[in-house]
Amino acid sequence: MPEEAARARTTYAEVTDEDAVAGIIATYRDEPGNLLPVMLDINRHFNWLPRPALEHISDELKVPLTEILRVASFYNAFSLTPRGKNIINVCLGTGCFVKGSPRLLERLERKLGIRHGETTEDMAFTLEVVRCIGCCALAPAIRVGEATYGRVNPDQVSKIIDSYIETASL
Ligand code: FES
Repeated sequence: MPEEAARARTTYAEVTDEDAVAGIIATYRDEPGNLLPVMLDINRHFNWLPRPALEHISDELKVPLTEILRVASFYNAFSLTPRGKNIINVCLGTGCFVKGSPRLLERLERKLGIRHGETTEDMAFTLEVVRCIGCCALAPAIRVGEATYGRVNPDQVSKIIDSYIETASL
């Protein structure tokens, strides 16, 4: 029996997680080149790629787990470690850098009590640095989840984060 088939799958944290992954795989099952879209949707659903989900993909799409891990490590869009409910991207691209985005990063690190690349203990926020989020005319810019904030003043940072704390009912 091939090694991949003999491997026992690790369990999901929640039964609903398994259903969500099964649904995503089913959406793309018959499409050629379906590995990447499946991984992207799963990464979007969890904000990272949990191991049970990767094993689930491997079993269902008949792709070796080693290949899936290689793809996951190659693209920056994927994370193999848990990330917070809200992903904050601070743009340190040239356009934003010269307009003061390092000061936004400092304020965010202070507000959240973490450094960039880290996640708050309550899993509410992950703080990341990126190189251009495609709205240089709005520099300096940050993104929280799908929302982009342009021409951000360091004094606005706290208020922006507080709005997500309120919606997350922390
Ligand atoms: S450099 Fe920041 S959005 Fe382009």
